[in-house]
Amino acid sequence: MCGIFAYLNFGVSRERRYILQVLFNGLRRLEYRGYDSAGISIDDSLPPSATSSSSSSSLTSISSSLLVFRQEGNIESLVKSVYEDVAATELNLEESFSVHAGIAHTRWATHGEPAPRNSHPQTSGAGNDFLVVHNGVITNYEVGYYANFIILCGLPSKYFQVLKATLVRHGFTFESETDTEVIPKLAKFVFEKANEAEGDQPVTFSQVVLEVMRHLEGAYALIFKSKHYPNELIACKRGSPLLLGVKELNEDASNGSTLHDSQFLSKNGQPKELFLSSDANAIVEHTKKVLVIEDGEVLHIKDGGVSILKFDNAKGRHGAAPSRPSSVQRALSILDMEVEQINKGNYEHYMQKEIHEQPESLTTTMRGRLIRGGSCKAKSVLLGGLKDHLKTIRRSRRIVFVGCGTSYNAALASRPILEELSDVPVTMEVASDLLDRQGPIYREDTAVFVSQSGETADTLNALEYASENGALCVGITNTVGSAIARHTHCGVHINAGAEIGVASTKAYTSQIVVMAMLALAIGGDTISNRARREAIIDGLCDLPNKVREVLKLDAEMKELAKLLIAEQSLLVFGRGYNYATALEGALKVKEVALMHSEGILAGEMKHGPLALVDENLPIVVIATRDACFSKQQSVIQQLHARKGRLIVMCSKGDAASVCPGDSYRVIEVPIVEDCLQPVINIVPLQLLAYHLTVLRGYNVDQPRNLAKSVTTQ
Ligand code: F6R
Repeated sequence: MCGIFAYLNFGVSRERRYILQVLFNGLRRLEYRGYDSAGISIDDSLPPSATSSSSSSSLTSISSSLLVFRQEGNIESLVKSVYEDVAATELNLEESFSVHAGIAHTRWATHGEPAPRNSHPQTSGAGNDFLVVHNGVITNYEVGYYANFIILCGLPSKYFQVLKATLVRHGFTFESETDTEVIPKLAKFVFEKANEAEGDQPVTFSQVVLEVMRHLEGAYALIFKSKHYPNELIACKRGSPLLLGVKELNEDASNGSTLHDSQFLSKNGQPKELFLSSDANAIVEHTKKVLVIEDGEVLHIKDGGVSILKFDNAKGRHGAAPSRPSSVQRALSILDMEVEQINKGNYEHYMQKEIHEQPESLTTTMRGRLIRGGSCKAKSVLLGGLKDHLKTIRRSRRIVFVGCGTSYNAALASRPILEELSDVPVTMEVASDLLDRQGPIYREDTAVFVSQSGETADTLNALEYASENGALCVGITNTVGSAIARHTHCGVHINAGAEIGVASTKAYTSQIVVMAMLALAIGGDTISNRARREAIIDGLCDLPNKVREVLKLDAEMKELAKLLIAEQSLLVFGRGYNYATALEGALKVKEVALMHSEGILAGEMKHGPLALVDENLPIVVIATRDACFSKQQSVIQQLHARKGRLIVMCSKGDAASVCPGDSYRVIEVPIVEDCLQPVINIVPLQLLAYHLTVLRGYNVDQPRNLAKSVTTQ
């Protein structure tokens, strides 16, 4: 949900053309986080009179030092318009800079429609004294409900911060509807006030930003650029993710990995390239040395050095006054990620690649975690991140799963096996609904937060809520160092590899596998359940092969997609372990193919949905072998009696017995242990959604209105 990126070269000569390419490539890597509009800022060398006059120009402002380009649409629209503007203004692409700081943004609109004025960089006004790219939401930018309430109560204004109104009172005019615009304007205000007060002691860039941060509430990752501080950048964050990548260009200094060096970060003068990014995807092609910036930290990049200041409690949701910042030393870490992971390889789309790489992603998820034992050793699982907390989890009053969208569905698919093996009651919570209701969470609860990105705002807020209520908080994420990974007491990484397609696919199957392993880890190894446990562990070991087998249905699913291409709606009926499959299959179809689709609990069929059934509406019924099989057979009979247009998913070899008529389409899938069957059954539905989308001519990796990592509420 919005991606921010910056590139700074120091002590190494880079042409403007190269700088633009690095910024554009950074944005392309982050585009899945938002693709409504985009923008960049680089340094100028043109006289102010050269401003472009074309109305379609993305060059929205030009000053004596900074150029800002903003364009509605995806990154390629921005790239095209920037090069058009460059040609129109005869900006020299070959001009070299031995130090240069550029910033960039790709937007998923929250405040204000996708339009150049609402795109980032947002500016302090004419002259571009301060520019900001932002991922997150500033909650106190305008008069809101809470502020109105305070005004009505007649309380003095010191009790609230309404930044926009305050700035307007000081003569600022706003051109956008964004929450972000208050930030550069506030920076300019602070800068001017400080310089008035300080006389000939000029205020530093970091002092300006630290003061700005004191006034911001909400969630943010920010990068600042200013014409008053040429070739410097400031990055800071609270709540939204931000990483610094460091590529040192001096051979001797980068020799070996001795750089795990807090020292390095404060060392000036060394030639280097620095990258700031919302996630590692945009950094890994340049360097693997990164610093995961923490909440409350302010990075000041100047003269080739990086200094870090930290607020212990940067002002946040509850508006607590921030402490004084102190200087901190941080070590760089090495990214465990390869460039190939973020490329499409031989596939046309990321979603397609991610569906097909599930045998490998599942293998990685299980690597080192399954112990098959010798002749006398029981088979078991090892989840290192949980080992010190298993006793507490076993003694919990209940386990509460919390997640959104696909992650919620994965938890739902895993609920029955957790109930069966752990003997602890398991309840389900959609994160936003838990917060809306302020549902009960107790000290004796274990709350499990499931999130691919580890950054979803609703899940993160629910985590904060559960943590405040004293529950043990467990995280299941795909992103090492993410907010959920950092703020939970313990957890498991699903290790599915970077997921770039906006529709989650391989993360879903890896989440289910991790939760099956969680159930095995929590559940006691008793004589009565040993056979069951061993069957699940054997099933897990063989699962990648079975997924390979079900992927062979690709061509068949494409044929089915051709049949369904013009349909308005698709129902998916499931129950037991595969109720989640029905929800997840329908979610995939609706989010990428833009076709109405609903996952229905088959046990509820007679209580409403049956009214929809006729000979036209296509219905997928999941009837693979498990404890619910005979009930699903009866559902099929009832739908058949009403001339339902059925597509039946059944276990291999069951087609003849499951389908009452030969007019039905059948999807035969390999049979596995019941709790792992959702991993198999979702694959044909992922393929169906993928092919439907491509055949209907939609962008499968960038579904309309959606973005990966929903970092706003
Ligand atoms: C659907 C999808 C979303 C996410 C949801 C939660 O394909 O991707 O429904 O599952 O936004 O995201 P995470 O798992 O990152 O918390």
